[in-house]
Amino acid sequence: MCGIVGYLGKKNTKEILLNGLKELEYRGYDSAGIAVLENGNFSNFKAVGKLVNLEEKTKNYSTDGFSAGIGHTRWATHGKPTELNAHPHVGQSSYVVHNGIIENYAKLKKELINDGIKFLSQTDTEVIVHQFEKNLNSASNTFEAFSKTISELDGAYAILLVTKSQPDTIFFAKHGSPMLVGTNNESEQYFASSDTPLIGHCNEVNYFEDGDYGYVSSNNITIFDKDKNKKEPIFSKLSQNKLSAQKDGFRFFMEKEIYEQSDVISDTLMGRLDDDEIIFNELDKKIFDDINEIKLCACGTSYHSAMSASYLFERYSKIRTSLEIASEFRYRNPIMSKDTLFVVISQSGETADTLETLKMAKQAGLKTLVICNVDNSSMVRLADYCILTRAGIEKGVASTKAFATQVTIFWMLSLYIAKLKNSLSVDEISKQISLLREIPTHVKVTDDMHERIKRLSKRYLHGHGFFFIGRDIFYPLALEGALKLKEISYLHAEGYPSGEMKHGPIALADPELFTIALLPQNLLYEKSKNNVEELSARDSTICAISSKEFDKADDFIQISECKDYMLEFFEMMIVVQLLSLEISARLGNDVDMPRNLAKSVTVE
Ligand code: G6P
Repeated sequence: MCGIVGYLGKKNTKEILLNGLKELEYRGYDSAGIAVLENGNFSNFKAVGKLVNLEEKTKNYSTDGFSAGIGHTRWATHGKPTELNAHPHVGQSSYVVHNGIIENYAKLKKELINDGIKFLSQTDTEVIVHQFEKNLNSASNTFEAFSKTISELDGAYAILLVTKSQPDTIFFAKHGSPMLVGTNNESEQYFASSDTPLIGHCNEVNYFEDGDYGYVSSNNITIFDKDKNKKEPIFSKLSQNKLSAQKDGFRFFMEKEIYEQSDVISDTLMGRLDDDEIIFNELDKKIFDDINEIKLCACGTSYHSAMSASYLFERYSKIRTSLEIASEFRYRNPIMSKDTLFVVISQSGETADTLETLKMAKQAGLKTLVICNVDNSSMVRLADYCILTRAGIEKGVASTKAFATQVTIFWMLSLYIAKLKNSLSVDEISKQISLLREIPTHVKVTDDMHERIKRLSKRYLHGHGFFFIGRDIFYPLALEGALKLKEISYLHAEGYPSGEMKHGPIALADPELFTIALLPQNLLYEKSKNNVEELSARDSTICAISSKEFDKADDFIQISECKDYMLEFFEMMIVVQLLSLEISARLGNDVDMPRNLAKSVTVE
């Protein structure tokens, strides 16, 4: 969701900005643009759609000296994805890019229109540049005008602004949306929404805190905090090891990421399994003292992994566990008691709703833990404790390996707590740990399996809807399967508890209703089977996923015989991921960047 880059230096600014934006593509966007100030003149380019369109527009443009440039990928919130609404937004002699939402933009816009300002776009962002130029008329210097402007904005933002009134400088402000600045030995300054565009360019970076604002010139970074006090940047080293994900011969990043799951889960497990205990060096065992409840809070796919965790925590750790959708939790005045461990789960660590709940929990004095894939992300920096999932960069908007590693962490964490609370015997913990070691083998994609799913997918391109059904921990997997399918195929799909179908959805059953039934052998098999039979009797088209053939199903996808239901969980996870991918591919959709979706949702 909206990506920002900025560059100040003598190199090829256009290339640096475009390459930086490419690294942020995974966040999701529908238009893009850049503005560069060189020798007192601005050059500005914008394009709707993918970055190739912007590349095409800028192909005859280059810089050959010192310049200040800003760039943006926009995920539309206020106004359609058009060129006029794309950033950077222009005033008389300044350009601005912004990620987030300016909540009081309507009021500011009205005042500016009354002052005679003409707006070109429907965005909330455009008010920033006009407000800044209005303030510039009465301010004694450019920074004073910029600071005043920032103090007048409500909402969430990461902002970069370049102006002719101080041409060798980029002004910045950060509140609620991520941004960092990086530098190197060549006096170059780079800005971005996450550290990936800076890898290979900068050796050290400063992550801005909420409330930070200031300006950067080629030899100076000036930062003020939310209380207007000057502060020094806090630099940390940036890894030079560019993990930039390439497709490696796969058709889609999502496909590559499905195939990678065996390796990344091995990484997730690495160094964390002993024979009879789980090792999380990043945790202090004391956090579980006086804890009577775990509250899990997340959005999207991460919410589904949190739901899986709720089954494992109650079953193995014998600790009361509750589950929250972050956007709901924020505004319902929840009761937060200090005997609750507040756990947020996020692939990106930047999702605005989840981040906000973490702030609420901290404010209420709860102990907090984040399960996250991105080190140094806002949530990682804010939470008391953090467990990194180690899935590597996930580029496909539809999350796969992030989910797999989150569930792996939760399975481990349930055993870690079980040991602390003596809720499982040593033998049982050892047995579970040996099962954990087997996950990487069970999530290997075989050619046979992939071929079978590819062939079957052609039968599932229509219909009036899909129901993914499962019981117990297979219910969150059903939810996740349905989410994957709707995200990338645009077909209607729902996840449902198998036993609940008879209370309403069964009314929809007919041959055009596709039921994807999760039938694990090791957990409630007979009960789940009965529920599927009820649907089969009403002529729903059934695709069963199980290790045992099921004669009431129209189609059958076989997983291997597993020792435990959790291993069946991981095998079925691969099946539902591949099924969605193949349906989406057959429909000709953009598998990696589905319409209307963003990888990192930094607005509420
Ligand atoms: C977006 C993504 C989803 C993701 C959700 C939560 O909607 O498209 O794939 O599950 O955000 O993101 P997070 O980074 O917090 O896990």
